[in-house]
Amino acid sequence: MNANSGPRVTNRVPEERWTPTGTLRLDGHVAIVTGAGSRSDVTFPKVGVGAACALNLASAGAKVAAIDIDPHAIDRTMAWAGDSAANLIPIVADVRSQVDCARAVESVVDKFGALTVLVNNVGIVGTPGTVVDTSLDTWRSVMDINLTSVLLMCKYAIPAMVANGGGSIVNISSIGAIRGFGSTGYAASKGGMLSLGTSMAYAHGRDGIRVNTVLPGHVSTPMGAPSTDEAELIRLRGSMLGTEGTAWDVANAVAFLGSDAARWITATAIPVDGGASMATGLAMYKYMNSGQEQP
Ligand SMILES: NC(=O)c1ccc[n+]([C@@H]2O[C@H](COP(=O)([O-])OP(=O)(O)OC[C@H]3O[C@@H](n4cnc5c(N)ncnc54)[C@H](O)[C@@H]3O)[C@@H](O)[C@H]2O)c1
Repeated sequence: MNANSGPRVTNRVPEERWTPTGTLRLDGHVAIVTGAGSRSDVTFPKVGVGAACALNLASAGAKVAAIDIDPHAIDRTMAWAGDSAANLIPIVADVRSQVDCARAVESVVDKFGALTVLVNNVGIVGTPGTVVDTSLDTWRSVMDINLTSVLLMCKYAIPAMVANGGGSIVNISSIGAIRGFGSTGYAASKGGMLSLGTSMAYAHGRDGIRVNTVLPGHVSTPMGAPSTDEAELIRLRGSMLGTEGTAWDVANAVAFLGSDAARWITATAIPVDGGASMATGLAMYKYMNSGQEQP
């Protein structure tokens, strides 16, 4: 399509891309996914990253604890589990709370006898702003939810994993960690996830713990992206592939990193963004203005 003919008004992500596509198996694994709930305005399969990760891991055979602060949000995700429902358990917890994080890990180990995969997915953007106009309250709240939560979950998850011979931690950061983004606290917290991940990978590699970070681009989720025609057009044109990504694309990378197939992969940071973060603005300019996107 040529942009000169105006934005397409149909859904630009074909329906088949909105479903789990992974073929990996994670039978025998026990996973925790934080922020796995779904907002009330979400409809399956157009779910958020955390819900896609939990549903994907459960359909791949893992036992999965879906953690969220909002019990109704977890119920929504659980209702979409279909045949994998037996693999999912809900845990209501606030990942800002040390007590809640400790209890969540303890209850998973009590129920399933082990913990092998932790997906630190909870995240908020907070109020966008520069260092000049970001309030200390906003900064602290974004850091608490996005970064300190990773410390707290890992503080309890790592000993539980070590007790069972090791495990895999996957942090959901953002390309906002490595490129100008416009939201000071968000960018700093997501950058902190990268260095915390590397630090944990180093410190616990000999314990059999792998730690990797996934950096989603502007995928089409309720949190990350307005679903206006213009926003969709910009997202798909801004990727090298000329297609728009979904939460399931992120979830497939997470499932791989969590699985035994990634046993020699640690301390990496993998963008899942259709190549967007590796192209210069100037190079993408012709695509932003002339289309050539893929179906
Ligand atoms: N959507 C995108 O385009 C995009 C891009 C880059 C990175 N990401 C990252 O992906 C992650 C998840 O995005 P999403 O689309 O699933 O978001 P989402 O808003 O759909 O889901 C986040 C969930 O976290 C829960 N939550 C919030 N605070 C919590 C707390 N203190 N304790 C427990 N649960 C809490 C919410 O109730 C919600 O269900 C975030 O870390 C985000 O930064 C998203």
